[in-house]
Amino acid sequence: MDINVRTGDIVRQRTKAIVVNLFEGVKKPSGATAAVDRALGGAISQLIAEGEIKGKYGELTLIHTLGRLPSPRVLVVGLGKEPEFRLDRVRDLTASALRYLRRLGASSVASIVHGAGVGGMEPRQCAQAMAEGAVMGLYRFLRHKKPDEEQREIEQLTLVEVDRKKTPALRQGVATGRILAEAANRARDMANEPANLFTPSVMAEQAQAIAAEVGLECEVLEREQMQELGMGALLSVAQGSAQPPKLIVLRYRADRRSASGGLGLLGKGITFDSGGISIKPAAGMEAMKGDMSGGAAVIAAMWAIGRLKPPINVTAVVPATENMPSGSATRPGDVVRAMSGKTIEIINTDAEGRLILADAIAYARQQGLSPIIDVATLTGAMVVALGKVATGCVANDQELCQKVIAAGQAAGEKFWQFPLFEEYKELIKSNVADVKNVGAPGQAGALTAAQFLAEFVEDTPWVHLDMAGTDDTDKEKGVWVKGATGIPTRTLVNLVLSLAEERRTARRRAPAPSERRRRGPRRRRRGA
Ligand code: BES
Ligand code: ZN
Ligand code: ZN
Repeated sequence: MDINVRTGDIVRQRTKAIVVNLFEGVKKPSGATAAVDRALGGAISQLIAEGEIKGKYGELTLIHTLGRLPSPRVLVVGLGKEPEFRLDRVRDLTASALRYLRRLGASSVASIVHGAGVGGMEPRQCAQAMAEGAVMGLYRFLRHKKPDEEQREIEQLTLVEVDRKKTPALRQGVATGRILAEAANRARDMANEPANLFTPSVMAEQAQAIAAEVGLECEVLEREQMQELGMGALLSVAQGSAQPPKLIVLRYRADRRSASGGLGLLGKGITFDSGGISIKPAAGMEAMKGDMSGGAAVIAAMWAIGRLKPPINVTAVVPATENMPSGSATRPGDVVRAMSGKTIEIINTDAEGRLILADAIAYARQQGLSPIIDVATLTGAMVVALGKVATGCVANDQELCQKVIAAGQAAGEKFWQFPLFEEYKELIKSNVADVKNVGAPGQAGALTAAQFLAEFVEDTPWVHLDMAGTDDTDKEKGVWVKGATGIPTRTLVNLVLSLAEERRTARRRAPAPSERRRRGPRRRRRGA
């Protein structure tokens, strides 16, 4: 789909549909909606007077123009109550309005920018939200379906703005929004793909392709290298599978003066979680093809970072493997040695995410990555706690956690923090090893899992995101469509952009000592 910005009058657009809006309770439309109303001989006002159009949030009213306008259709979108209007609504309304128009077969749509007019919000942000809503809301996963004759697409979306001064900001917003949403859709594509077609090797190949596309370094560690590094935890999960494991590393280096790999984004890459010998019940097991959603989000975020080019270093680490039962699989009671040197008693082979992440964390620390953010569909307990509404987070660095939550808010992705109490350590003590991979049944399962990771993170600043409930959805709502959500791809990208921005302003205020030294001679040279 093509998205462009045009200065002009919405009434005059020659597209298959035009979109205007109305706040709840407004009796007399204003701005662009009023102009369309006039062109329609007062049809909108009349429908308001009759009580058909109320402006309620999500209300969609289609009006056929029958030759009174160049466009055959007008869609009036209800914005809801003005004080409740937020960017989330711009994103979600754009998504549902465009899905509706796609069903009607409108191949081209012109829309005013929701929020930027009467709403009084920043035009750039509104345009970004609209681009995100359009690209994410129209997402479909059709790779394995027979092409449908009736399958229609919106080929062109035009954002129309009367005020010429706003167009550069609107164009910027559209460009950023597209990248964020396309990244989320890439994560969705990976997570929606069935496990027979999306093995650890395929995941590694896709990471390599993404790296080549946007100029990242990609390194894929094979089983032998994992053995050399002593990644006994990751290897213990992989040993039951016929598919070779891969440790995918993507490096984005903006600051080559810094030796550090910078921020570490770690993602769980279990391409299928059968549970292993502690096998899962059959009902719903197919959803475990999405147990690599954390890894997918991290890889997709790196694609967006490679395109947006923020001035900080970011490195992604994705341990990818299947978790399968077989004659060579790990047994409950087995003890393995992780890369960090800690020994782990494996009580339940279905608690495999924390095992592969333990070695990914050790590897990230060895690479000097800091801070570390890990993203994983880690525990059913988190789904019990938050449902499919929010992603749980746990952190040893409060400031960083707050930044993740704020980055999520900007993306319309909800996060909720849980505590990391000292006492959880007791629950994962083993009689035979340094630590065991599960806590006590029915007791804070999501947090003993986080505590297990904390044992490997040690003093590195860290935020853990448990997205077991938010990786997929069975409802169509706003930007979300059935299947993988692409969460938390946009949050991660927003976070990287805000960390980069923070560093830029901090540098402007007080240059680091090393930098002052660098600046010194340059200034003298200029004077000479
Ligand atoms: N991948 C699952 C967690 C999960 C559950 C993700 C539901 C998405 C939806 C994870 O590997 C797992 O099986 N965790 C176990 C841990 C338990 C054995 C301690 C769980 O939560 O049941
Ligand atoms: Zn599992
Ligand atoms: Zn799992």
